[in-house]
Amino acid sequence: MRILTPKLFHISTMGCQMNDYDSDFLSQTLIRLGLSPTGAPEDADLVLVNTCTVREKAEQKACSLLGRMSRLKKKKPELTLGVAGCLAQHKGKQLMGRFPEIDFVMGPRDMARLPEILDTVVSRRTRVVADRLDLLRPEAICRPGYFQGNITGQIAIMEGCNNFCSYCIVPFVRGRETSRSPGEIIQEAEYLVSEGVGEITLLGQNVNSYRWESGDIRTFTDLLKALNRLSGLLRLRFTTSHPKDLGKDLIQAFGELEHLCPHIHLPFQAGSNRVLHGMNRRYTREHYMALIHALRDVRPDMAVTSDVMVGFPGETEPDFLLTMDLIERVGFDNLYSFQYSDRKGAAAANMDDKIDDREKASRLARLQARQKQITLEKNNKLVGHTLEVLIEGESRRGDQLSGRTATNKVVNFKTSCYNKGSLIQVIIVRAAVNSLTGEVCVPEG
Ligand code: SAH
Ligand code: SF4
Ligand code: F3S
Repeated sequence: MRILTPKLFHISTMGCQMNDYDSDFLSQTLIRLGLSPTGAPEDADLVLVNTCTVREKAEQKACSLLGRMSRLKKKKPELTLGVAGCLAQHKGKQLMGRFPEIDFVMGPRDMARLPEILDTVVSRRTRVVADRLDLLRPEAICRPGYFQGNITGQIAIMEGCNNFCSYCIVPFVRGRETSRSPGEIIQEAEYLVSEGVGEITLLGQNVNSYRWESGDIRTFTDLLKALNRLSGLLRLRFTTSHPKDLGKDLIQAFGELEHLCPHIHLPFQAGSNRVLHGMNRRYTREHYMALIHALRDVRPDMAVTSDVMVGFPGETEPDFLLTMDLIERVGFDNLYSFQYSDRKGAAAANMDDKIDDREKASRLARLQARQKQITLEKNNKLVGHTLEVLIEGESRRGDQLSGRTATNKVVNFKTSCYNKGSLIQVIIVRAAVNSLTGEVCVPEG
């Protein structure tokens, strides 16, 4: 590969953890080509925007950032501007029409082509569209030192989704589900641990359907068991599970695997069976509740978080009240809640009985207000308890240290004698909705 003209690159990442993970791949690719990262887009020779398109708002956010980056390029024509990620896959050509400054668009499955694309764009001054979907994930780069200083890390164990929930664009922009080999995943985990990472989150749109056809590790639970044995790894998490595929073996694993954290993110989306059916989720509220009971039987301290949507086409007030009822019954530790938004190409976009925006906003506000109280009640119950915290770094305000409990709650505390990456015991003294305040238990003697 010849030496490229761009020297400094800047990546802006939007969307979910999968995009964060992909941005690290892109960043390591560019470093390997001899470029260096910069936090300031105005200093960069190459700007990459890694986009999301899961809801209309995500698309608007990406377009407004692309507008800003295009203005930057107008002032600095030698800048190379690329759009990566799910919106690039979904509407790449449209974006190129709207923003003539964009040099290339590259979908999530075509990211390995970045060096070749840059070569074409820089040397031949041609615009490039890279949107192939039928590809396997490229092997991780695992550059020594890249994650040094990070306490938490993540690994995509699979790519794509076959579920086709009727509202969702992800299967169209990330392609069909493919699993990575257990060997590759374990190697990447060993690399992260050697960099100093103590906590690994395994990523996939539907981790329960992880499958490998040969060897001892064939299912997701097999993979968790293997990683649980990894020397030096303190904590193991995963996201996201699908309620229709969450089997007994995984529930059992929560009781058996020492490093698997007692937290599950299990999206329920809606509390009404009629709406769940329309969403093509393929489970009922009764099944969802039974899963929660089974998980809490195995781990009574299990934290449960979820995703929920209001205003799916045809959702009536009684349907919405079933969602409110479900959040009451489960008592989620935290909830990510959204207003349904049409995604062109997904089945629900063509459904009748769309819900009025004002009604959606009002349902969302009611749900969020109640969930805030539930989260606070849950957090208040932890006051006086001693919990294990993995120290991740300084608190947001910078005057304290901050870490998370195994149940994934943020705890801020003052201490002078512990370092990032240590597991320590903390007594919870105060609770708020988004974080807890603790005091460090000083070991006796
Ligand atoms: N694979 C994960 C999550 C994918 S997207 C899963 O299956 O759970 C993250 C969340 O965005 C979803 O759980 C859903 O709640 C929300 N979402 C997806 N499409 C949406 C849409 N069209 N409108 C509103 N919310 C949506
Ligand atoms: Fe989208 Fe459903 Fe797949 Fe999640 S499981 S990515 S919500 S289609
Ligand atoms: Fe993630 Fe958004 Fe793509 S949620 S998978 S970055 S559409």
